[in-house]
Amino acid sequence: MSVDTLTIPTQRVQQSRLAEVDFSNIEFGKVFSDHMLVVDYKDGAWQTPQIMPYGDMSLSPATSALHYGQSIFEGMKAYRDSKNGDVLLFRPLDNLKRLNLSAERMCMPDVPEDIFMQGLEQLLRLDAAWVPSAPGSALYLRPFMFATDDFIGVRPSATYRFIVFTCPVGAYYNHPVRAAIEPNYARAAEGGTGFAKTAGNYGAAMMPARKMQEKGFHQLIWTDAREHKYIEEAGTMNIMFLIDNKIITPAVSTTILNGITRNSVLRLARDLGYTVEERRVSVEEVIEAQDAGKLKEAFGVGTAATVAQIAVIHYNGTDYELPPVEGRDVSNKIAAELDKIKTGQVEDQYGWTYRI
Ligand code: COI
Repeated sequence: MSVDTLTIPTQRVQQSRLAEVDFSNIEFGKVFSDHMLVVDYKDGAWQTPQIMPYGDMSLSPATSALHYGQSIFEGMKAYRDSKNGDVLLFRPLDNLKRLNLSAERMCMPDVPEDIFMQGLEQLLRLDAAWVPSAPGSALYLRPFMFATDDFIGVRPSATYRFIVFTCPVGAYYNHPVRAAIEPNYARAAEGGTGFAKTAGNYGAAMMPARKMQEKGFHQLIWTDAREHKYIEEAGTMNIMFLIDNKIITPAVSTTILNGITRNSVLRLARDLGYTVEERRVSVEEVIEAQDAGKLKEAFGVGTAATVAQIAVIHYNGTDYELPPVEGRDVSNKIAAELDKIKTGQVEDQYGWTYRI
């Protein structure tokens, strides 16, 4: 199969649900578009992809992903071109690359580029009307793959299912984030799966996150598993600080997700003339910078969250109130530039947008 020739058999919905959706008030991840892409892997090969109505699936109780967690996913977004209404997908090949890195770590098969790209393209053409155009909104795409053997011996599954469904979304956080530095639990350890987007990383984060939420914080800031001394990520996002007029962010490693929004923000920051440092960032450095009035901005970056301002950092019993989010010229400027590229308001000199 080549990217040009793959025509995906499509079963359309009889009646679109689009008219039922209140686009002015969408909770993240609760509303699903009409169709989904489904591709099965068996006998060592990907089978013919299909597009079908979004809906429930029937699975064996022994489905191995449910027991041993061979399950990986991606998050990506499609936007409306503000000039002509075309659908623009943001950096899909980078998501495919990361999906396949996750697949390798979890002993799962690669998803071929033609299936991924043609699948996305045909799915988005069919559900183009679901791509919102209001500022801050997008169509979120959730590609994922899970092990489907009905077998509970512990070994890599021989069969898998790859699905892409989509959701119109607004902002993931519609308020500045109160974040707490996690001093005990760890998200990832060296040699583990921290760099992979695998379901278990998120499941394991829920209890520590819940504990912090009960104390009034929206997100955790994870620290390294060995010493809890260095900052890693902020919950579902990478994290960045503006200290002494430099954008400082933990370097990606085997324990940190290599975020596509992270990469885009850093590229734009450099091109806008800001100094960027990707390196280890200790908790002490951030707290000392805050005490000295040198920490001007802190923000999370991710596909779902885009650029999410952090208003408060809690550490060791103290709430550190950061400067007001309205005056955060650096992150707000980069976020605005990124948004202009994603929505076709400026020329995309990076080749990040993929026109459907
Ligand atoms: C994304 O930003 O797309 C993510 O994967 C975070 C998600 C778990 C909501």
